[in-house]
Amino acid sequence: MSSHLHSPSVAALLAALWLAACSSGSGTGLSSLSPAARLGERLFEDTALSASGQQSCATCHVARFAFAENPGLDGPDRGSPVPLGGPEMDRPGFRNTPSLKYVSYTPAFHFEADGTPVGGFFRDGRAASLAEQAQQPFLTSFEMANADAAAVLDKLKTRPYFAEFVAFYGAQAGRDPQIALARIGAAIAAYELEDEDFHPFSSKYDYWRRGRAALSAQELEGLRLFNDPTKGNCAACHPSTSADGVTPPLFTDFTYDNLGLPRNAAIAANRDEEAPEYTPANGTDGVHRYYDLGLCGPFRTDLAQRSDLCGAFKVPSLRNAALTAPYFHNGAFATLAEAIRFYVRRDTDPAQWYPAAAHASEIVKFDDLPAAFGGHFVVDLDVAGSDAGYRGNVNTVEVPYDRRLGDSPALNDEEIAKVVAFVCTLTDGYDPDHPEDYAALLPAQCPQSAADSIP
Ligand code: HEC
Ligand code: HEC
Repeated sequence: MSSHLHSPSVAALLAALWLAACSSGSGTGLSSLSPAARLGERLFEDTALSASGQQSCATCHVARFAFAENPGLDGPDRGSPVPLGGPEMDRPGFRNTPSLKYVSYTPAFHFEADGTPVGGFFRDGRAASLAEQAQQPFLTSFEMANADAAAVLDKLKTRPYFAEFVAFYGAQAGRDPQIALARIGAAIAAYELEDEDFHPFSSKYDYWRRGRAALSAQELEGLRLFNDPTKGNCAACHPSTSADGVTPPLFTDFTYDNLGLPRNAAIAANRDEEAPEYTPANGTDGVHRYYDLGLCGPFRTDLAQRSDLCGAFKVPSLRNAALTAPYFHNGAFATLAEAIRFYVRRDTDPAQWYPAAAHASEIVKFDDLPAAFGGHFVVDLDVAGSDAGYRGNVNTVEVPYDRRLGDSPALNDEEIAKVVAFVCTLTDGYDPDHPEDYAALLPAQCPQSAADSIP
């Protein structure tokens, strides 16, 4: 979708004002944070506030992976596309952990005049603000898993910063569990808003825009393919230019789209009889017990009647995407190249991504969406209709999806490699005085040449 973000959120403006007011020193030191944000940082990192005693926000949102998780690389969830949590740290979640970098620029959830859904926090936009979002993981049974707000307050009372918390937020916040949790959310939101680590705008692309870095020929060609409406057309949803002329490009327009991703059996909830008992049973086609339908549920409930929105997920920023594998809400792809290959070959060569139908030479396209709407099982499930039930919601009209079986894909493998090289330039931490150090920051999936061009 290509509707525009009209203005930066109030949150982002406040952050900009705060940073402007405090932009004296190196920026990331504690001294540049307000008292609320300093408390927020400690809350964000404190594992003692979880039922297991082992998990904090920072366990899943790891600073060196752009505040996402990189389960392929380390940690207890190694290899899983979704994090583990709960009192015994053995309960798998449902979605791949998103990066928190630049998240404070997200506008509140709303529908544009033309009906386009925009913004909100979580991949389905169900939290209205960062402060509201930040309260939820404390109570989610497969995350930090406290029984209720009172359990969170009991733990908070044992912490060395509790006195500071009460001094700042008042005695009531130290007594009333609901108020305490609300203030915890506010403090964490202030941290995400104020700390420059969450929005440094220090990628090679940012320096290139300011004329202080050179992109290689490969990266420039990748940018061109990324923007070209007849090739990648990526910028239609992941804009590479500033939305408001002030904020640098965010590489998301915060809209929603339905990509028709393949079902990922590596997520326990997707394994039917083997799914954890807390998995919602919202399948409507008699094939799978559970489907993650994004905007229409099951974790978001207010749009459950909007079957047209089923399967739509928020467009994420591509800043730092090189560091946040696996990709998409269900972590179905391990590398950027695979994710992009899916975009361009989903419809030209579906057998690469989807299973074969039971007894047919056909392929079950869009197999992570129910083939039937709730209540009426009109569809012969052996027929691999890609427009049956919720599968009809998948975006098949915009470039690069507008292809048919056997067409040549919008990008060939060489062009995909160029787009990957470009996306790698969105990794924060470029130092214009030491461009040669950039290569060391980039993961193996980025071409070495990403670091080759020195101004
Ligand atoms: C067990 C791992 C885990 C823990 C612990 C965790 N998160 Fe998350 N976080 C996730 C996952 C997974 C999602 C996506 C969930 C969804 O979309 O429904 C997410 C989503 C978010 C989002 C929304 C991002 C966006 O683009 O809209 C924010 C903000 C966030 N988390 C902040 C926090 C904070 C603050 C804490 C601590 C209070 C926290 N998280 C604890 C895994 C975790
Ligand atoms: C029509 C809108 C649209 C277009 C065009 C589009 N994307 Fe996306 N992109 C999305 C949405 C929506 C998601 C999240 C989908 C989900 O998780 O279910 C996404 C997710 C991604 C992700 C995963 C990021 C992460 O952190 O998991 C990558 C990588 C990506 N897109 C790259 C691209 C590239 C490269 C192109 C161009 C070839 C492109 N996109 C074109 C809408 C779009």
